[in-house]
Amino acid sequence: MQRLPKQFFANLVRKVNAKVATGADVINLGQGNPDQPTPDFIVKAMQEATAKPANHKYSQFRGDPELKKATAAFYKREYGVELDPEKEIAILGGSKIGLVELPFAILNPGDTMILPDPGYPDYLSGVALADVRLELMRLKEENQFLPDYDDLDAAVVQRAKLMYLNYPNNPTGATATPEFFKKTVDFAKQNQIGVVQDFAYGAIGFDGKRPVSFLQTPGAKDVGIETYTFSKSYNMAGWRIGFAAGNADMIEAINLIQDHLFVSVFPAIQKAAITALNSDQQSVRDLVALYEKRRNQFFSAARAIGWEPYPSGGSFYAWMPVPKGYTSESFADLLLEKAAVAVAPGNGFGAGGEGFVRVGLLIDEPRFTEACQRIKKLGLF
Ligand SMILES: Cc1ncc(COP(=O)(O)O)c(C=O)c1O
Repeated sequence: MQRLPKQFFANLVRKVNAKVATGADVINLGQGNPDQPTPDFIVKAMQEATAKPANHKYSQFRGDPELKKATAAFYKREYGVELDPEKEIAILGGSKIGLVELPFAILNPGDTMILPDPGYPDYLSGVALADVRLELMRLKEENQFLPDYDDLDAAVVQRAKLMYLNYPNNPTGATATPEFFKKTVDFAKQNQIGVVQDFAYGAIGFDGKRPVSFLQTPGAKDVGIETYTFSKSYNMAGWRIGFAAGNADMIEAINLIQDHLFVSVFPAIQKAAITALNSDQQSVRDLVALYEKRRNQFFSAARAIGWEPYPSGGSFYAWMPVPKGYTSESFADLLLEKAAVAVAPGNGFGAGGEGFVRVGLLIDEPRFTEACQRIKKLGLF
């Protein structure tokens, strides 16, 4: 328990709450919790499924076979990827669970795993629980926030057994290319490193560019898996449902550890998830259009005050540089204190996030334009 990382963002929430308690009208751009409701047709499917006694029983240990079939059909339809529903798909109670339990399931204490820096902080919980050795790989702006495998220390590469990627990326909004994923498969094969590509924002790509799935890369299933969540694509963050797909050995390890930890997810939620995957995906297209509109509006408002964003290609985040003379944290503190605008300091995602703050575009346009107006008054740009 003592190894578990400190929850950096719990501190941010405390600071924001303290500001709100003073009566300030805080514009909260610090969070990553989708603001839109779950689409009606999914809620209705859930209501119907909840009323059926068959769904009140224990779920099958490894999840509803129908959901696994729907997942395979979804990957085939959306990405042209073939998956064996029983051997290559594991149902997760939210993708975070899979990401945290996987190192514990497949590594031995003292093994090495590589995480991106900056990166999603919850990956660190898996490192602590598995008692593995952590190495970081820097994501640099000059490389479009993709790792450069040639930069990694040879001894680290030799030791490493597992690495995580996350595109579209939290916190930077960067997206991956098919060439990068091909390089990743080659690198992983050469060095016998398992790959986990966190595709939480897989549905959210802008400018007509659909984020590529790692599993579309030839040979990807030989080296790794992709995790996916309903939280972002279908605004189902509170429902806790996701899946992992790909390499059969890694999927078996997840299923095996889950046999001992859980009895899968409430069956009615799994039925609603089937409805979501089998739908025509219009709700997803509408949601992406909303996020793209917000991104464009926020970028315009920020540029109008001289604050130049990193040009994100996906996710619902904007990755914003801090002005000279500030750190991520001192700038975030200043914005909260003087403008009542909450943003997530980049260093909360690792040392590689220093020099940036993350803005979540999870409120409607008038509010973030107002946030930019308040920030303008500070005269920093
Ligand atoms: C990069 C990334 N991965 C995974 C998750 C976890 O998603 P969930 O556990 O809701 O599936 C999140 C949630 O914010 C995320 O930002």
